[in-house]
Amino acid sequence: MDLTEAIKGRRSIRKYKPDPVPEETLQKIMEAVRLAPSWANTQCWEVIVVKDPKIKSELATVLPKTNPALSSMADAPIVIVLCGKKGVSGFKKGEAATVKGDWLMFDTGIAMQTLCLTAYSLGLGTVVIGMFDHKKVEEILGVPQNAEVVAMTPLGYPAAEGATPKRKELAEFVFYDKHPGK
Ligand SMILES: Cc1cc2nc3c(=O)[nH]c(=O)nc-3n(C[C@H](O)[C@H](O)[C@H](O)COP(=O)(O)O)c2cc1C
Repeated sequence: MDLTEAIKGRRSIRKYKPDPVPEETLQKIMEAVRLAPSWANTQCWEVIVVKDPKIKSELATVLPKTNPALSSMADAPIVIVLCGKKGVSGFKKGEAATVKGDWLMFDTGIAMQTLCLTAYSLGLGTVVIGMFDHKKVEEILGVPQNAEVVAMTPLGYPAAEGATPKRKELAEFVFYDKHPGK
């Protein structure tokens, strides 16, 4: 699939078929994550592929009832949990190299978008989920202190298309030469 087609066509999918994802397809998606860019090629991401229905339903309990992606956690055959190792991205000899500190959110964000676009190009749906109790997920999955959970996504075949939320116009966020100051 052409890249622009993938960028334009990808939508957040919140309804899934229970059909399994072939292992080969899953591996293609993981391979794409492997190729994502990162700070000094530090690759701080760690990916937990959850297929066990019991663990998936435990993970669903950490989302607030109001989260529109709630039902997708149990419906989709896979939930991907994206973690980042702390103190790696943006660090040089143990010291933060910029005022931004840890760049793990940035690098895992790129990894997640790479995952979502690749999944879409292979006919699969995703929705980035950030609104949940991160500490509880770390407990459920046994994530060690040197890493943190950033976001999750269900992965599976879409049962319904996603709506297309409106985007800002270019003039609202593209500035030339200087920031307009407001
Ligand atoms: C960092 C991040 C966190 C998000 N968290 C949630 C979430 O907790 N629940 C949810 O239903 N959607 C979540 N979304 C999906 C957004 O609502 C969605 O990307 C946005 O509305 C644009 O729609 P689109 O993905 O179909 O283009 C999240 C997206 C991002 C990038």
